[in-house]
Amino acid sequence: MKEWTREERYRVLQGPEDIRELYDRIQTSAYRQLYHVQPITGLSSDPNGFALHKGTWHLCYQWCPWGAVHGLKYWYHVTSPDLLHWKNEGIGLAPDRDYDNRGTHSGSAISNGNDLVFFYTGNHRDEDWTRTPYTCAAVLGEDGRPAKLDAPLFGPRDDHSEHQRDPKVVYNADNQTYYIFIGAQTLDKRGCVLVYRSKELLSGWEYAGQLNVPGYEAFGGMWECPYITNIGGRDVLIFSPQYTRLPGRGESTNHNVYLIGKMDYDALTFTPDGPYHYLDYGFDFYAAQGAFISRADGGTDKGILIGWIGLPDNHYPTEEEDWEGSLSLPRELRIVDGKLKQTPIPAVLTLRGKEIEASGALPAACYMEVSCPGGDFELNLYTKADGTGGLRMRYDAARKAVTVDKRGLDRRFNEAVGEVLEMPLEAPLEKLQIFIDRSSTEIFVGDGEAVFTAHTYPTEGEFHYTASAGVGVRLWPMEKSVTDEFVV
Ligand code: FRU
Repeated sequence: MKEWTREERYRVLQGPEDIRELYDRIQTSAYRQLYHVQPITGLSSDPNGFALHKGTWHLCYQWCPWGAVHGLKYWYHVTSPDLLHWKNEGIGLAPDRDYDNRGTHSGSAISNGNDLVFFYTGNHRDEDWTRTPYTCAAVLGEDGRPAKLDAPLFGPRDDHSEHQRDPKVVYNADNQTYYIFIGAQTLDKRGCVLVYRSKELLSGWEYAGQLNVPGYEAFGGMWECPYITNIGGRDVLIFSPQYTRLPGRGESTNHNVYLIGKMDYDALTFTPDGPYHYLDYGFDFYAAQGAFISRADGGTDKGILIGWIGLPDNHYPTEEEDWEGSLSLPRELRIVDGKLKQTPIPAVLTLRGKEIEASGALPAACYMEVSCPGGDFELNLYTKADGTGGLRMRYDAARKAVTVDKRGLDRRFNEAVGEVLEMPLEAPLEKLQIFIDRSSTEIFVGDGEAVFTAHTYPTEGEFHYTASAGVGVRLWPMEKSVTDEFVV
């Protein structure tokens, strides 16, 4: 693994020529995704600024240009007409001001009439590396690039720790007020959310208080990337608690969870209806954020969610090639019987080519539909030709649980975090939808009951699968939908 100095990680990009050679080199990687957003060079992490504006989807990702390392972060901007065909637009936000001198960190977007407004964290550091996080805004200009306001909207509070970031902006129609939710940490290192409000989007922000979430006063040491939405009349709070181990999640200390409940903006209280749930049961999923399609945009009200296929602190095999990361497929969110259901956006199936015979060969980018036999079964992806090794999935019908074991893969990584995870289900397993791209696997269970996302890096000998008798497998190759052009 390459050792990076701070100077190397925090180098400022002077122009496209700085990364042209790197771009050309990683284009030849066997692991470049065909239908998932991925870093043009270097590292991509959190999805940022995700919104539908005037018929175009805007999405950015946290981007460190230099390699597979968390250093100076930019927002890299991509757009799409349909959430599938993504075009590179170039840098969305660059750390070019004093108040964001060490990174334009995560944030959100809101489509407000004619304007698309981005909110982000300006990560300022002094010479002695003391951090001051600022909440900043930028407005998409006629040229398609976000233009920053002259000054931050507000700075950090000193009654919380330096961890105050990732503004999520929402409009509450009931009291015609905008709110910003900030992921934060108390002085005694408990994760929380700070709330700000304003009648105007670009000025007048005042601190409202720390969000009360009864029962969650001591749940993890920092809540990154809070996201709140309303789906079918229920409020959903999504966040990424860190610095804690949670049941069934191996040794990982980074998680992405959600609560369903009721948000009371006057009392600044989110009252959960029940326990928290994992947004995803896989090895690599974090910092998810959503966007909302309202009836006004033609269709029914629905939420769309995208996450980072990756975890802070993890390392991935493409590090050797000086890039890593990918965003997940967009998922539709619904609430059914009080539970969040996540299904792949239906349009993703239009990327399927002609169905191919399910004979045990696994294309590098494909869609697999699996009908389950009723009892216990196994389904193993990326096995050797003789059926050994691979990512091994086992369903235990009596316990209604799927175990996913990646120890058999040629390329093993993050062993210490755990290579075996379990996905507990409430209903008997009837079907799976599996989306395989060159370096990721997303497994959707049933009608959206659970999702399992993982980075996977099969080697040449591993493009096979095996399934127990009675398991129905249908297979389609997937077309490329991400242009991956050199636009900086
Ligand atoms: C989550 C996170 C955010 C932060 C960003 C920096 O992965 O740590 O809290 O804004 O990444 O890249």
